[in-house]
Amino acid sequence: MFNSLPGFREFYPEECARRNYLFDAFRRVALRFGFKEYDAPVLEPLELYIEKSGEEIVSQLFNFTDRGDREVALRPELTPSLARLVGAKASSLPMPVKWFNIGEHYRYERPQKGRLRAFYQFNGDILGESGTAADAELISLLVEILRVLGLTEKDFRIRLSDRTLWFLFLEGLGFEEAKSFEILSILDKSEKISAEKTNALYQEILGAKAKETALKIEKLKTIQDLEELRKFLDSEDLNTASKEKLDARLEDWTTLIGYLGGLGAKSFVQVDLGIVRGLAYYTGFVFEAFENEGQFRALAGGGRYNDLVAKLGGPELPAAGFAIGDVTLTDCLDRRNLLPQGTENPEIITILGGETERLEAIKDITILRRAGFSVAYPLKNQGFGKQFKSAGKSGAKIALIYGGDELSEGKVKIRNLSTGEENLVDRSDLEITVRGLF
Ligand code: HAM
Repeated sequence: MFNSLPGFREFYPEECARRNYLFDAFRRVALRFGFKEYDAPVLEPLELYIEKSGEEIVSQLFNFTDRGDREVALRPELTPSLARLVGAKASSLPMPVKWFNIGEHYRYERPQKGRLRAFYQFNGDILGESGTAADAELISLLVEILRVLGLTEKDFRIRLSDRTLWFLFLEGLGFEEAKSFEILSILDKSEKISAEKTNALYQEILGAKAKETALKIEKLKTIQDLEELRKFLDSEDLNTASKEKLDARLEDWTTLIGYLGGLGAKSFVQVDLGIVRGLAYYTGFVFEAFENEGQFRALAGGGRYNDLVAKLGGPELPAAGFAIGDVTLTDCLDRRNLLPQGTENPEIITILGGETERLEAIKDITILRRAGFSVAYPLKNQGFGKQFKSAGKSGAKIALIYGGDELSEGKVKIRNLSTGEENLVDRSDLEITVRGLF
């Protein structure tokens, strides 16, 4: 037998049922929040991701040259495609755009717990709105999806951070934008590498200033509430212009947290400047969802990316969004027994005496299926005993029994599979009788 490729999953019906359960929740909640569903190609020009997504994703691309000599890549994420779609029609689309997608993405990573090479994401994004109300709407959509799936404050939290604040802080310390980018990239890696390695990286780019700067960064990273953050920034010796901008930024934080309170999401959110996000395009508030216990990879991540649409040749258009991954989320729900077991069962199962009965029964089955019931029947003639046994195991609510005697009187027997109770009904009344049973 051939094997599937490493990091690519096969979905037998049980796994497909679990996947669909997630997708149903994603879709239901997104629609409740007024998001519209869209889709984009899975194969894109390679260039779309180069520089736009950031070095980590680019190093993980599934890319190749197609038969027309085009450099192409399977999509590792959806955000650049979305930015192109919205940018191309920005003048005619009613703003703000609130769109969502559920689709498969591909990254050539080392397959490991929580990380595969093909995985699904739910993406929710808002474009055309720069105010914090949009960031709040997105964070509360994320919280609501996880809540609907049965997770509570005990299970997960959203770590909320802010690249704008980081840049202002580093500017206040006298760093230019390019240097700040390098610092943030080390900060992003620091969760995954040792403290020694992190310090060596700081040393490399900051030289004599490394120790002092690393200490300040470490301090800022440990802050967990807004008041503490305000106090810390006040106590720092930053230049006046940056201080003023930081004060204004803290006002945005206060507004955002106020909105999150009203939206029922505040208690899930934790100030945590340790999150900066590896992707290159983020510009403002950024966040990631994590389980509270255990060393698991993120359930979701996102943030504001106000420059991406213009970088792709579109107009200036503020944007923010996030993606939930299905791999870590499925693991998290599975460990808590929050996923459905097994597959959808037929509602009705049919038991057939033989070929003559089959020819009649399939007419009734067709009527019932067209009326919306799920009805199964054996494709090969079998003895009654065997059929009753499989009907009992099928998970169906009722069995329709077509025997020679019943048929000759124009009747069919309905058996309630949980109580064993049986009733004879006229075939002409079957649909109406069955309707009464569901
Ligand atoms: P991301 O943080 O790269 O963000 O991915 C979001 C989520 O996708 C992660 O938290 C994780 O659950 C899942 N994920 C990523 N890579 C893998 C993998 N190799 N295997 C399994 N799951 C994975 C983005 O993709 C951004 N485009 C999100 C976004 C939307 N930002 C704005 N809008």
